[in-house]
Amino acid sequence: MMGLYDALFASQYDRFLALAERDGLAARREELLKSVRGRVLEIGAGTGLNLDYYPDSLERLVLTEPSEPMARRLKDRVAASALDAEVVIAPAEKLPFEDDSFDTVVSTLVLCTVPDPEETLAEVRRVLAPGGSLLLMEHVRSESPDRAKWQDRLEKPWRWYGNGCRCNRDTVSTVESAGFRWDELQHGSVPHAPPIIRPLIAGRAVMMIQNES
Ligand SMILES: C[S@@+](CC[C@H](N)C(=O)[O-])C[C@H]1O[C@@H](n2cnc3c(N)ncnc32)[C@H](O)[C@@H]1O
Repeated sequence: MMGLYDALFASQYDRFLALAERDGLAARREELLKSVRGRVLEIGAGTGLNLDYYPDSLERLVLTEPSEPMARRLKDRVAASALDAEVVIAPAEKLPFEDDSFDTVVSTLVLCTVPDPEETLAEVRRVLAPGGSLLLMEHVRSESPDRAKWQDRLEKPWRWYGNGCRCNRDTVSTVESAGFRWDELQHGSVPHAPPIIRPLIAGRAVMMIQNES
């Protein structure tokens, strides 16, 4: 059953996001990815909606994605692009890479969906080289208590509809608790999205060094 829904979700994903992309999300992706450098890892790359915004001058570009139907679309997009990118089937909680092997990790609309955000961020820390950055664009828990209450109420049905997506995660705090600090953090909203997945953050987080607080 989950396999069938996975396939349906992947087939409708770009269509579902099309209006939001057109009216602001694509511009945020482009802005975010201006900071990529060196060896780059994207987690949960989905159908590859970020591909248009990667420069072709990167030292290495690896795109991971655990869902086969998503990864098929991702591979097709990579093949149709000028990018020299590797697609690897893997969950973000268990990345098949050595320590310190990337300079930039990219996560867009993924920390809402991974089953274990803490483990994911621990893996991101492990594979990021010293001085590396984590670029994030995520929909998050609302700062308005009223809207957050609705996000909590509707978490379960939305999770089912959104193929594992949680609408109420406080990702800003989770990133900080995982030992990152924000170098840049913008708050915005996902255009045309239902209110429970509208609050959006985008920014760059870097690993805190020991004794930094
Ligand atoms: C909302 S989509 C975002 C796709 C893409 N990053 C984007 O910006 O359009 C969430 C993605 O997270 C992926 N995902 C689910 N579980 C995951 C996990 N454990 N590790 C990494 N990615 C995961 C899904 O397969 C899906 O491609």
